[in-house]
Amino acid sequence: MKAVICPEYGPPEVLKIQELPKPVPKKNEVLIKIVASTVNTGDARIRALKVKGFMRFVMRVMLGFTKPRKPVLGVVFSGIVEQNGENVIRFKVGDEVYGATGLNQGCHAEFICIPENKAITHKPENASFEEAAALPFGGQTAIYFLRKGKIAEINNPQVLIYGATGSVGTAAVQVAKNYGATVTAVCSSKGKELTQTLGADKIIEYDQEDYTKVSDKFDIIFDAVGKTSKKECAPLLKPGGNFLSVEGLDIAPESTEYLDFLRELFENKKYKAIIDKVYPMDEVVEAHRFVDTGRKKGNVVLRIN
Ligand SMILES: NC(=O)c1ccc[n+]([C@@H]2O[C@H](COP(=O)([O-])OP(=O)(O)OC[C@H]3O[C@@H](n4cnc5c(N)ncnc54)[C@H](OP(=O)(O)O)[C@@H]3O)[C@@H](O)[C@H]2O)c1
Repeated sequence: MKAVICPEYGPPEVLKIQELPKPVPKKNEVLIKIVASTVNTGDARIRALKVKGFMRFVMRVMLGFTKPRKPVLGVVFSGIVEQNGENVIRFKVGDEVYGATGLNQGCHAEFICIPENKAITHKPENASFEEAAALPFGGQTAIYFLRKGKIAEINNPQVLIYGATGSVGTAAVQVAKNYGATVTAVCSSKGKELTQTLGADKIIEYDQEDYTKVSDKFDIIFDAVGKTSKKECAPLLKPGGNFLSVEGLDIAPESTEYLDFLRELFENKKYKAIIDKVYPMDEVVEAHRFVDTGRKKGNVVLRIN
């Protein structure tokens, strides 16, 4: 099978397309023919070992000291069940599925084996494979952090999403709206139109206005791009309010429950897959270059099969 290999840490150009043996499912595993994945900030961060200070050491321990221990990157997939291990009961051959592999990665390849009890579920019926692949990365992260902020327990929650146009930000605006929140979104003037389509109630363009000067107070402030700080946001929080950020040691897990939640929202037209660009697998270097700009809107899809 064809796969994208990251043989060393470095710029996008280190990536190579290579032939690898097609994996064979164990008893509890599903073999998936991957149709689409995404290139996201997580992949780019691993490829470049793009972290500072002590975290760089931690990342090397987790991912490999001198080069990635798992050279096939990619943490999300949508695809078709090709073969089942003998004990698999949740899926049948031909099922259209989607999911996430976290630090196990391996999704930038034509096939992958996943234990059926990991983060894999049926894809939304009305989603294309590209759309399904665009759901898990930002979607799971947004669900994790907003639930950590106890969004479901707040009556008419007032939520500020800082950085509303990335993969996590576009998801966070939509997830918060689905919890009944009144959402203030902070984005650039370039991102305003997109943010409106996500249903934000109020938009602050950070290149036009200082969001810290608004008089509103919030139950939850979620920094979806890791560019602000608890100290900066503190004056905007209601008493007992929560500041949450993607930056730091707290990593959103992958979960079948999150994927089922996203599927239900998508099928009920309460959540959109936001896709900036779609690249074929052969153009993975170009896809990484674009993600490295830090300017993508929503998700960058990698078409595999
Ligand atoms: N902790 C976790 O579990 C977890 C999970 C996923 C991701 N992350 C981290 O979360 C961060 C965001 O990930 P992502 O994939 O959503 O990123 P992304 O898609 O690359 O975000 C890019 C977006 O951010 C906007 N942006 C850039 N600078 C901004 C600023 N100063 N203020 C507001 N918006 C700004 C850009 O639009 P403009 O240029 O037009 O403003 C662009 O639309 C990354 O650092 C990633 O590593 C953490």
